[in-house]
Amino acid sequence: MYVCICNAVTETDVQTAIDAGCREWEDLQEVLGVAQVCGCCQDSAQALLAASVSADVATEKMPTVYAQGAKAIAEFAVKIWPPVAA
Ligand code: FES
Repeated sequence: MYVCICNAVTETDVQTAIDAGCREWEDLQEVLGVAQVCGCCQDSAQALLAASVSADVATEKMPTVYAQGAKAIAEFAVKIWPPVAA
């Protein structure tokens, strides 16, 4: 699903950027160009970034078995974000 229509950026693109090391909003903007045209995607892109980075930070401090569960939950949350509008 597209996160940023103006720049044709998908959730997968955002996750790939995060996996490659983007941890700050400014990094994501520079790498993908999100929220630099109309700005409509800012909330969604920031939510994806926050969810993924939080999961990564959390898993670094957990025993492996819990870390795997937290990572799976975070990946699922990214897949269903944003919720489908009625
Ligand atoms: S939707 Fe991302 S800048 Fe317009």
